[in-house]
Amino acid sequence: MKVLVTGGAGYIGSHTVLTLKSAGYDVLIYDNFSNSSQAVLERLEELSGEAIPFVEGDIRDQERLDDLFQQHSIDSVIHFAGLKAVGESVLKPIEYYDNNVSGTVTLLKAMKKAGVKNIVFSSSATVYGSNNQVPFTEGMPTSATNPYGYSKVMIEQILSDVAKSDPEWTITLLRYFNPIGAHKSGRIGELPNGVPNNLMPYITQVAVGKLDHLRVFGNDYDTVDGTGVRDYIHVLDLARGHVKALQKNAAVKGVKTYNLGTGEGVSVLQLVQAFEKYNDIKIPYEIVERRDGDIATCYASCEKAQRELGFTTEESLKDMVVDSWRWQKQNPKGYEQ
Ligand code: NAD
Ligand code: WQD
Repeated sequence: MKVLVTGGAGYIGSHTVLTLKSAGYDVLIYDNFSNSSQAVLERLEELSGEAIPFVEGDIRDQERLDDLFQQHSIDSVIHFAGLKAVGESVLKPIEYYDNNVSGTVTLLKAMKKAGVKNIVFSSSATVYGSNNQVPFTEGMPTSATNPYGYSKVMIEQILSDVAKSDPEWTITLLRYFNPIGAHKSGRIGELPNGVPNNLMPYITQVAVGKLDHLRVFGNDYDTVDGTGVRDYIHVLDLARGHVKALQKNAAVKGVKTYNLGTGEGVSVLQLVQAFEKYNDIKIPYEIVERRDGDIATCYASCEKAQRELGFTTEESLKDMVVDSWRWQKQNPKGYEQ
């Protein structure tokens, strides 16, 4: 079974490629390297023991995609390719809608033409918006507060409409909570562009001395210690979730939506404390104003993924902080040596 992995050179995609290979799938990466390094391909080869086929290209390039589907016998697509920085999406909405929404539509056109009607899509907990009560369940209404979030809401809608229009499609929407961690080897991991927006890469860059101290965005939320609570999930568990989704996809037509999280809420300060304790490093921090658009608490109900996909997480919070640090410490310059 051959799986086309769009965005397969990125953070979640690269880990999923390895998990797919271990599960016996053939993989083809399609990526324009707009937010990743070609060097990841060498690391993937080193870790999997064989070169991973890849094609450099953009998901908005219809011709290239048509050629790709003609030249390779693809059974399923896992669609990671997209832009993901919330703040940047507010400044560049046209680029975000073009890349994420138009790119997905172009990919779907190529898939339809080639008769490939299996897709697993990278959605996000961001689609739960700011008006739902935790734990978030898949049937809750979706909404967004920024163009990135809207692009995910729109793509979910598009994919649901596609599934309704033609019963041959099997579509899985995976709503990731907060992915952190890295491969146990320390050879692949998250590579943020510039100063990180997300908490874990910010912490690891403070730990490695690239950044001076962490700024904690608010300690007056109605949470255990006043700081924001999130559902952190190890990227290796997330990768396993995709294999489960593919196996499910083979059997069930129509659109299915699943949360991928742990179901556990962890506050900013709890994550900092876990990082300090398990890595034996101090993370200096100061409390600053809340960040615009943040909600107090976000965690998943994991029941549906457990019941229907047989998905449960295996990695602990300790694994997450230790593996994130190993990656950062071994690769202070990312993939450039
Ligand atoms: P990433 O930026 O590391 O990976 C995305 C990959 O897609 C990159 O390699 C990039 O070069 C590629 N890409 C972007 N636009 C492309 C295009 N037009 N054509 C071809 N390739 C393109 O991001 P990630 O963290 O691995 O996220 C993967 C997916 O998961 C994204 O769709 C993201 O929105 C979603 N997601 C991520 C998170 C998170 O916190 N990391 C949470 C929820 C959902
Ligand atoms: C986590 C917590 C911050 C940085 C974002 C996207 C979401 C999804 C995952 C793609 C919050 C606090 C953070 C810092 C801090 N991505 N924080 N200081 O905002 O939950 O989710 O990434 O789909 O769509 O919105 O993740 O890691 O940015 O923040 O105090 O320097 O850490 O306020 O409480 P978030 P995050």
